[in-house]
Amino acid sequence: MIESGEPQTITVTGAGGQIGYAMLFRIASGALLGPDVPVRLRLLEIPQGLRSAQGAALELGDCAFGLLDSIEVTDDPARAFDGANIALLVGSRPRGPGMERGDLLAANGAIFGPQGAALNAGAADDIRVAVVGNPANTNALIAAAHAPDIPGERFTALTRLDHNRAVGQLALRLGVPVSRISGVSIWGNHSATQVPDINHATVADEHGVWHPVPERLAEVFGSAPAAEQWLAGEFIPRVAKRGAEIIEVRGSSSVGSAAAAAIDHVRDWVAGTGADHTSVALASDGSYAVPQGLVSSFPARSVGGQWHIVQGLSITPAVQLRIDASVAELVAERDAVAALGLLG
Ligand code: NAD
Ligand code: LMR
Repeated sequence: MIESGEPQTITVTGAGGQIGYAMLFRIASGALLGPDVPVRLRLLEIPQGLRSAQGAALELGDCAFGLLDSIEVTDDPARAFDGANIALLVGSRPRGPGMERGDLLAANGAIFGPQGAALNAGAADDIRVAVVGNPANTNALIAAAHAPDIPGERFTALTRLDHNRAVGQLALRLGVPVSRISGVSIWGNHSATQVPDINHATVADEHGVWHPVPERLAEVFGSAPAAEQWLAGEFIPRVAKRGAEIIEVRGSSSVGSAAAAAIDHVRDWVAGTGADHTSVALASDGSYAVPQGLVSSFPARSVGGQWHIVQGLSITPAVQLRIDASVAELVAERDAVAALGLLG
């Protein structure tokens, strides 16, 4: 657990890029580790990105954040990860219109092996790694494969953005604030095959009484089959393809929501999730028959600073089919990066 008052070293890669810029100010203001934990920021960039990261560092200084202990900008991974307690691995190319995230495998995969090795060599014993750069699940797998001395459970990838999107879409359809939705899950890959699952979700009424979401949706749509049709035809594709929708509308991939989700992910990991679970991509321990070691999204709770996959959830046959397809995609990505020699 992190002691109040003890400065924590947080390394952000790709700190000169869009998401890096969006997250740095929130990290420095205490949104990541709370109002009592000073932060030392290490900003890692490639040489072409250094000026942009240096500019962000100047602006961070201008904010006079009380919690910001120090900022260092570097293009040396060994320096960036030396003593790191938390590493947010953002630096990598984003996809453009018409691309799938998996199309970035060859271009981005090569970034994560050396960074895993640098983490292995110098990070603090309590290092926690959150991979944001796409394809995030498999990049986390690559980084972990190069860090044999760091427990595999410390390498995670971001599916919190998908989780938050699912909660947002559900709340919108049910006409309630997001605070009244609980128990949503994302399974599988952070890709178009991901599986947003509301079968264990609940929604609170105005008296604070919780009801199963499938029942509530059946009321809203007039029948359970009509609700199923909405889930399969609108909700799941909307959430799973939201990244592409943002690219189409904005002209480039999500930034503010991605930075916010990465901060939610690490904050919950460190501080705990409480009663509700969230969604995290982490190395499978074989739960739900996902092959061991594959970095797949699961419903999870953080307790005592560690993620625990929620056990014992019943999976409907339709959801199982989707999970199988997403896991098959992860297996194919793993085999592709192994063939490229990226798993060491
Ligand atoms: P960006 O192009 O604005 O910034 C990327 C930065 O990474 C650039 O400044 C670049 O110089 C730097 N970089 C490249 N290689 C690096 C390396 N080896 N070490 C350190 N820095 C390096 O991109 P962005 O919009 O910030 O997106 C970054 C990544 O995050 C992309 O891969 C994008 O697809 C991904 N992303 C993931 C999620 C998610 O939910 N998992 C959400 C949004 C975006
Ligand atoms: C997202 O989900 O918004 C990101 O992974 C960016 C992308 O390429 O979709």
